[in-house]
Amino acid sequence: MIGDVVELKYTNEKDVGKLKMFDIIAKKRDCKTLTFDELEFFVNGIVNKSIPDYQTTALLMAIYINGMDGRETSELCMLMARSGDMMEFSDELITVDKHSTGGVGDKTSLIAGPICAAAGLTVAKMSGRALGHSGGTVDKLESIPGLKVDMTVDEFEKAYKKTGICIAGQSGNMVPADKILYALRDVTATISCLPLIATSIMSKKLAAGAGNIVLDVKTGAGAFMKDSKSAFELAEKMVDIGMQNGRNISALVTMMEAPLGYAIGNSLEVIEAVNVLKGGETGTDLYKVSIALSAELISMTRGVPVNEAAEIAKEKISNGSALGKLKEMIATQGGDINALDDFKRFKQPADKYEVIAENDGYLAGLNAMKVGVLSMNLGAGRDKKTDPIDYSAGVRLIKKPGDKVQKGETIAILYSDKKNLKSYGEEFKAACAFSKDKPVIPPLILGRVSKDGRETY
Ligand code: URA
Repeated sequence: MIGDVVELKYTNEKDVGKLKMFDIIAKKRDCKTLTFDELEFFVNGIVNKSIPDYQTTALLMAIYINGMDGRETSELCMLMARSGDMMEFSDELITVDKHSTGGVGDKTSLIAGPICAAAGLTVAKMSGRALGHSGGTVDKLESIPGLKVDMTVDEFEKAYKKTGICIAGQSGNMVPADKILYALRDVTATISCLPLIATSIMSKKLAAGAGNIVLDVKTGAGAFMKDSKSAFELAEKMVDIGMQNGRNISALVTMMEAPLGYAIGNSLEVIEAVNVLKGGETGTDLYKVSIALSAELISMTRGVPVNEAAEIAKEKISNGSALGKLKEMIATQGGDINALDDFKRFKQPADKYEVIAENDGYLAGLNAMKVGVLSMNLGAGRDKKTDPIDYSAGVRLIKKPGDKVQKGETIAILYSDKKNLKSYGEEFKAACAFSKDKPVIPPLILGRVSKDGRETY
């Protein structure tokens, strides 16, 4: 026996005035559920700095080990969302939002956003910047000459009311509780905790105010959730939080084993998204995921089945109205719309390097995480928040997993202002797997979570 068992006397749950962080930590340590008042005391305390970091991290670790039930997760999430500014929209607008848990080459917001706006929905979206191996929509948009993403709430409101779509950077005082908790989780090995990830992501979605939300939960080498089991669990938790907080919400679980689409890097990704909206690239993985995400939002807002909604989404591309919405958005945010028809108006890289196949065979796999890190090393991303970005840097894939390759053929082209791109070419090859026989490629969309439960495809 290690010592005497001490009977713990928890503070009276009804008496908020007597709450103590010590008791809250002890309660979670002992696998008990926290009340709304205790969660509120915690969130208020971290924001007004009355709770020291050592107690906050002790509770985070207790949550990491013992979890939180659905009620606690949902309440913590709403309290976090309310810790700062919350967006509010007029009831007349049908507001939609889309969130991806992060990936490589994922530019679906630049396609699904304009499709939804063309379908009469309001896309008033605040997006993040690139960090580590995964890109950020705001940096991608900033690669368009002149385009502004730092907007006041007034400018943001005017923009989405005028065009039905605006994608801006996050306002300074949104969800301060998440900023504090995420920074502490990052240095205390408590990031990979499903209820904490779910509350972190969903608090930002709730604060962003849209009534209708689709989540793209990625799984695979380039994703947060490496296996599909945990991706579905995260999707279920987030859908549950959304529903408990009165939102229409669904989630797709999609593959992020290899990069999505052919382009990785800011202006390269904008150009790829524009080409999809121009109707030229209908068979690609990027097109399919973008249509599926748009269909979720059109279906939940228009009350039509998802397959019918997908046809509406496709039509918004084929009739040019989605591209028109992107152009309107870019013009309203001060960007050069001529760049969408003359790609040379984007910043050009100083150098490029072609990666050549050394043998005949198939490209069997392309590790998304490694390609994401390579793209960051070429200058397209950031290791630290303060690092500058080269908008023209990145990777353009010529071959995708499953494609046949012949010795001497180009597999990918690397772009950068950096010197000695040959060494980056070696880094790209280290991300590739080759096979003699045609490889089996995993399905792109693994399933869906909605108010009706989980469907696996
Ligand atoms: N993304 C977030 O915003 N929060 C997490 O905790 C993990 C991924």
